[in-house]
Amino acid sequence: EGNKLWGGRFVGNTDPIMEKFNASIAYDQRMWDADIRGSKAYVKALEKADKCLYGAFVVKPGDEDIHTANERRLKELIGEPAGKLHTGRSRNDQVGLFTMWWNTEDALQLVATMVERASVEIDVLFPGYTHMQRAQPIRWSHWILSHAVAVSRDVERLQEIRSRTNVLPLGSGAIAGTPFNIDRELLRKELEFDGISINSMDATGERDFVAEFLFWASLCLTHLSKMAEDLLLYSTKEFSFIALADAYSTGSSLMPQKKNADSLELIRSKAGRVLGRCAGFMMTIKGLPSSYNKDLQEDKEAMFDCFDTLHGALRVTTGVMSTLKINRPVMEAALSPDMLATDLAYYLVRKGLPFREAHGLSGRAVFQAESKNVPLNQLTVEDLAAISPLFDRDVAAVWDYSSSVEQYSAPGGTARSSVTAQVQHLRRWLQDH
Ligand code: ARG
Repeated sequence: EGNKLWGGRFVGNTDPIMEKFNASIAYDQRMWDADIRGSKAYVKALEKADKCLYGAFVVKPGDEDIHTANERRLKELIGEPAGKLHTGRSRNDQVGLFTMWWNTEDALQLVATMVERASVEIDVLFPGYTHMQRAQPIRWSHWILSHAVAVSRDVERLQEIRSRTNVLPLGSGAIAGTPFNIDRELLRKELEFDGISINSMDATGERDFVAEFLFWASLCLTHLSKMAEDLLLYSTKEFSFIALADAYSTGSSLMPQKKNADSLELIRSKAGRVLGRCAGFMMTIKGLPSSYNKDLQEDKEAMFDCFDTLHGALRVTTGVMSTLKINRPVMEAALSPDMLATDLAYYLVRKGLPFREAHGLSGRAVFQAESKNVPLNQLTVEDLAAISPLFDRDVAAVWDYSSSVEQYSAPGGTARSSVTAQVQHLRRWLQDH
């Protein structure tokens, strides 16, 4: 009971069950550094000597949270003057100081890995799918970069969140603000925030920075889960487009032949876990009255868990992407002439037909090939000419996957020049981030 920050008006002891339920020390001790930095800056603002050097630190029974524990330890070190530290300060404005060291390093590493892979394997073609049905031939690099671009957006989004939320709450007191001429601008500089909060009630009662981080992590993991799902499919025997490195696979305790892509399944799963944290925290803060309420203490486990989960998922994804092997012959053999039906329509467009009409005629050709049970490119010029007189011998040029992808040379497309431009764009982007 000795080191409670609020014992004065209480008689008797807190029920041990309540003590445990109330305490956040089990997880908020992770913020010890931020709390001490905050206190050191606060001491400066109080124009007192900076005596807060810490030795070995042990959590003691009765340390309700990290703020309590740090003040208790300071008192052990310097005695009664430690009691001056909290002058004009509240845990309500102290606790909002913690920001995770939001690091874009893991995400940048993943983007860099993918960009280099895309550059090396740029000439590999394979089927692109929409609705999980065979759609059009694309470059394998186009697929890789589609996911790299999503992660690059996540990096930018995190930076936007950071610039919006990097606002100092310290100096807000418990609700009304702080007396004693505390220099909040000095605190801001010391603690490297970009701005100071505008309103003390808002500052002590809001957790936007947590909610935004949780949503951000959820969206980033949603991107990773999509990518993992594609790779899982590509790694099945039925597809055999890719083989995961053994380092990222596991086996079966029963079936000796099994090689399971557990890494990808776990990456896929984490979006659910983290979105659950996000939804749970939003439900916790929904309908809270103004200012600090203890419900806000729930922010920490949600945030720490998401932080650790994302960190792990990004690093494993980078490992998977840098070690998997592609099976180029199988990928290219998986292309089929029906995937060029759009190109057959474009052939007619180039001969002057409106696309809608060309689409219908190409569809007729598809129907006829299916009826005759032959691949689309095995229809004779006569078969095609019966569908439209615009079909001629030069139609043979349509049945070439390499020249098919080369049509898509507008920015963002799957032509070699467009994919090269994407690689260059992301390389420049990586240099700026
Ligand atoms: N452990 C608390 C939290 O994490 C610190 C703030 C507590 N303030 C209070 N007046 N009970 O939210």
